[in-house]
Amino acid sequence: MSLLIQNGEIITADARYIADIYVEGETITRVGKGLSAPSDAQRIDATGKLIFPGFIDPHVHIYLPFMSTFAKDTHATASVAALIGGTTTFIEMCCPSRFDDPMESYLLWKEKAARNTACDYAFHMAVTRWDDNIESQLRTIVADGTASFKIFLSYKGFFGVEDCELYQTLALGKKLGVITTAHCENAELVNRLQQSLLAEGKTGAEWHEPSRPETVEAEGTNRFATFLETTGAQGYVVHLSCQPALEAAARAKRRGIRLSIESVLPHFLLDKRLAEQPGAEALKYIMSPPLRDKRNQAALWSGLASGLIDTVGTDHCPFDTSQKLLGESAFTQIPNGIPGIEERVNLMYSHGVCTGHLDIHRFVDALSTRAARLFGLFPRKGTIAPGSDADLVIFDPLYRGVISAKTQHTNNDYNGFEGFPIEGRPSIVTVRGKVQVKDGVFVGDQSRGQFLAREPLGDTHA
Ligand code: URP
Ligand code: ZN
Ligand code: ZN
Repeated sequence: MSLLIQNGEIITADARYIADIYVEGETITRVGKGLSAPSDAQRIDATGKLIFPGFIDPHVHIYLPFMSTFAKDTHATASVAALIGGTTTFIEMCCPSRFDDPMESYLLWKEKAARNTACDYAFHMAVTRWDDNIESQLRTIVADGTASFKIFLSYKGFFGVEDCELYQTLALGKKLGVITTAHCENAELVNRLQQSLLAEGKTGAEWHEPSRPETVEAEGTNRFATFLETTGAQGYVVHLSCQPALEAAARAKRRGIRLSIESVLPHFLLDKRLAEQPGAEALKYIMSPPLRDKRNQAALWSGLASGLIDTVGTDHCPFDTSQKLLGESAFTQIPNGIPGIEERVNLMYSHGVCTGHLDIHRFVDALSTRAARLFGLFPRKGTIAPGSDADLVIFDPLYRGVISAKTQHTNNDYNGFEGFPIEGRPSIVTVRGKVQVKDGVFVGDQSRGQFLAREPLGDTHA
């Protein structure tokens, strides 16, 4: 089966032009003006529409046992939500706890995703402890195509690792040419601050941010960078939320350390006042690193515009209202997470590109191309060119709407971005040549998604 998309305005990380796209099977085979196609080809008129490469979310949690409960989405619900929002590939964190067997966990995560995912997907493998068996298991997992690690410097005793375990992981990453992604907060300081706040009777959600202040994130970021410098490994800081951490990462980049930076949707648009509201509403806005003082957003937008911040992910991690209430009497028990897999593209376009914060090519780069390069998916994903997978987002810039839990596809009973206006949304979304979404409705194949096996990057710096 072939597909001809005519007269759309193609926008990639480095080009913008009106042309046709011809797809044979799952792959783009021609891009150009006035393309011909057999009479039985499916045709889509994209006049007046923008065409982006399928967006990639490099940081999501779908199956996640965490904080005495489980994140709410299934691979079916999260992948449909992703596609409706224009994300055609996500990279999920496979997160065993310190007490789980990594290989068993990896196989469990893969099994949960298999046959249930409507978009393509890959994993980052979390390393949550180091012992004699881990290295050989990690080598097998990398050989299977999961060529990126995840480290938590926070969540002590559950996901978190000690410095010696961080060192071992990065040393292996260096040997294998595998990039390590890291949640950078100082676990010891978070623990001490949590205990002293609780001891003073400061138990409400408004104390979550003071228990993990900006300096604690800057310390974690700086330490991660120093370990990268010492081991020579390649790293990627996830969900960087504030100016001091950005300055630490920027210093590392200037020193030539192979460090890339991700910030996530909530930190660009939401701030800590939402977690300081009276009552249960505040609990919905608890994530780590926390929503910050609003002054940080200018630094994030300018870091993103300049390319200092490489990528924008979501850290999608839904917990519903009843789960959030587990932390009603102590902020340390509130399940951490704010979902956004469905909203990222539309909100970053509307509140980044349309407001002038973000050049449209940087938008494509940060939400698609750069993640593809950093995680071994480029040029199969992240661009529109002959030979690339036909993951395409035909985007209607004239659409106007408002984000609401009432219309979302994520499995949750609220939306952290409720009431945010959007200017434009995907009108058609294809995954490897198959139309999966039409005007906000999933019309495709629930099991279309494939596991994307990735090669290690080696010693390059994408
Ligand atoms: O609050 C968050 N970020 N929840 C998900 C787990 C993590 O730290 O990424
Ligand atoms: Zn994290
Ligand atoms: Zn996360």
